[in-house]
Amino acid sequence: MVESPFKPEILRGKVALLTGGGSGIGYEISLQLGKHGASIAIMGRRKHVVDSAVSSLKSVGIPAIGFEGDVRKRDDAARVVESTFKHFGRLDILVNAAAGNFLVPSEDLSSNGFRTVMDIDSVGTFTMCLEALKYLKKGGLGKDPSTAGGTIINISATLHYTATWYQIHVSAAKAAVDSITRNLALEWGTDYDIRVNGIAPGPIGDTAGMSKLGLEGIASEAMEKMPLFKVGEKWDIAMAAVYIASDAGGFFATAYGDLVCNSYKGLVQEWSYPGKYVNGTTLVVDGGEWLSKPRHFPKDAVKQLSRVVEKRSRHAPAGIPQSKL
Ligand SMILES: NC(=O)c1ccc[n+]([C@@H]2O[C@H](COP(=O)([O-])OP(=O)(O)OC[C@H]3O[C@@H](n4cnc5c(N)ncnc54)[C@H](OP(=O)(O)O)[C@@H]3O)[C@@H](O)[C@H]2O)c1
Repeated sequence: MVESPFKPEILRGKVALLTGGGSGIGYEISLQLGKHGASIAIMGRRKHVVDSAVSSLKSVGIPAIGFEGDVRKRDDAARVVESTFKHFGRLDILVNAAAGNFLVPSEDLSSNGFRTVMDIDSVGTFTMCLEALKYLKKGGLGKDPSTAGGTIINISATLHYTATWYQIHVSAAKAAVDSITRNLALEWGTDYDIRVNGIAPGPIGDTAGMSKLGLEGIASEAMEKMPLFKVGEKWDIAMAAVYIASDAGGFFATAYGDLVCNSYKGLVQEWSYPGKYVNGTTLVVDGGEWLSKPRHFPKDAVKQLSRVVEKRSRHAPAGIPQSKL
């Protein structure tokens, strides 16, 4: 595994709660936030998955606790957020990674199946945000009023940027997640100093997402058509989460931010803390996969053609083009 490019203490003292933090991408984000100094609470429906994730985190020295809960149930969401606060005394980072997925042609999907995925991915994300608000906001429970508000990271996808076969329910749900990200970034950024961002993973190896969609078998063929000729790793998504959760990505980075802000203080009084300027964006971490299209000309043919076209246009008479109509 590649070493993290970030300093190990950049999240020191922060507390993160992750839905779906017991497995796959969510677990890797838990691990990396923890390795960078955060204490970790994870939430999921299967107790044994949550318990084993907590033991793994503790085994590498990360303070961790797990809670059984279903993001579709408001009582569970409230209980888990409150228990996290009671255990660690604060909440700084909420990561919504819980999601449901299965392949199904649209005509075979029931309204209930569609609704279930919307309930987990979209409504669940919104419910968790609502319950976490009183802890995440600037001056919220457990927070020093002079420090910034917390941050929310919603795990989305790229399926809905175009259209994806047999993924109508997930595409709709993730489109809603991206809207939630933008709207909360606007409202809660303004009113509560909470930064809300998303991460949209492309195909990530060794995850339930890949195996449930039957993509692992065709991965090598698919890779040939991808811009970077590979699927992503969970680590890639976790590093994006560390970046967004940290004070980096701001106009001024923390390491020297105080200095820069102090020199501006006479001009801009309201800058009481540095950095933290990334808000309302969904960071695509897919190796360019959603942009990829088959190359329709060999590169040499294009070079040859453009030389000919260029030469022709240089010798063409100048003037106003005549309309043929
Ligand atoms: N893998 C990929 O290539 C890929 C690509 C794009 C986006 N993503 C996104 O990345 C995230 C993680 O995906 P993954 O592939 O790593 O799959 P995963 O391991 O199955 O992660 C999903 C997690 O969500 C939890 N969960 C599901 N429903 C829940 C509910 N109602 N309440 C609470 N927790 C719930 C699951 O635990 P329980 O079942 O125990 O509750 C599980 O830990 C998802 O948001 C997914 O859409 C993945």
